[in-house]
Amino acid sequence: MLHPFATHVGVRRLVTAAVAAPSVHNTQPWRFRLDEDASVMDLRADLDRGLPVIDPRGRALHLSCGAALFNLRLAIRVTGHRPVVTAFPDAAGEPALLASVRAVDAAMPSPGEAELYATIPHRRTNRRPFGAKRVPQVVRDELVTAAREEGAALSLPGPQTTAYLLGLIAAADAQLAADPAYRAELARWTPDRARGDGIPWYAFGPRPTGRGLPLRDFGLGAPDAGREADDFDARPQLAVLLTRGDGPPDWLRAGQALQRVLLTAARRGVSASPLSQLLDARAAGPAEPRPYGHIQAVIRLGYGRLVPGTPRRPFPEVLERV
Ligand SMILES: Cc1cc2nc3c(=O)[nH]c(=O)nc-3n(C[C@H](O)[C@H](O)[C@H](O)COP(=O)(O)O)c2cc1C
Repeated sequence: MLHPFATHVGVRRLVTAAVAAPSVHNTQPWRFRLDEDASVMDLRADLDRGLPVIDPRGRALHLSCGAALFNLRLAIRVTGHRPVVTAFPDAAGEPALLASVRAVDAAMPSPGEAELYATIPHRRTNRRPFGAKRVPQVVRDELVTAAREEGAALSLPGPQTTAYLLGLIAAADAQLAADPAYRAELARWTPDRARGDGIPWYAFGPRPTGRGLPLRDFGLGAPDAGREADDFDARPQLAVLLTRGDGPPDWLRAGQALQRVLLTAARRGVSASPLSQLLDARAAGPAEPRPYGHIQAVIRLGYGRLVPGTPRRPFPEVLERV
């Protein structure tokens, strides 16, 4: 079996899969590098692409890179190899070096792994209203298992906790929207011209009418022209991703779990969009002990109309070869 790092085409295939991952504000804060003898691929955080206002600790940046790492692992797996990941190989010397990945011979992927891989280009953040259909229990169970397999926990709250969480998110959203620094940072990542990163206007989703949901408004400050309005989910379905700790290794793990959950959902035709304002608003606060774990993502689930994909940066910007 040809080693996945052996050819230029093979490496491009891996990196294409990795960069299709979701990232906060579509910042794509990652860089990949193959070592001289093409035996190790390093994943580094691109700290210049951080979001100092909403993500001063780099939590969301690590989650984004973790999501890319999950895709990279899956892309290696479908070549009949097994990824061997060393997380933070030089934590003290070079904390931005998030993972070194090798590929060793293994059995062919399971049908489940092959399907998850095939889903990578089809997964999207969907900011449209979702219909009334409930996510079936069997799919909910699969999502919980997906998170657990990556060392995280997924909780699917009932109506009362959902209403409580949405209230907290709405309050956090209002607090952020009133902050000029937040609006300025958002404006930098919602460009009004075609770019390889950031969130284009066509991905903002409609403005909520009477029945709203506290989705992040990427159109804050942008002219209203052409943006439709719509009613949002009457009975929102949320999922909450938790980790035991709240440091860089937990965030990297959470990102892999997030992506495994999102791909598992997409594979079953379930749409999803994260609602992170609660985490942004708390980003600068002191770390509190949390006996039930730390929330790393809140995800809205449901069934929405298809949405177009968002741009990605060109290869030379993300892939270095030494
Ligand atoms: C850590 C993290 C936090 C995110 N938070 C939000 C959010 O609060 N609201 C939202 O609509 N999308 C959120 N997203 C989704 C990104 O905006 C999205 O992944 C990016 O724009 C690329 O689009 P795609 O997911 O369709 O590929 C988040 C993604 C990640 C990885």
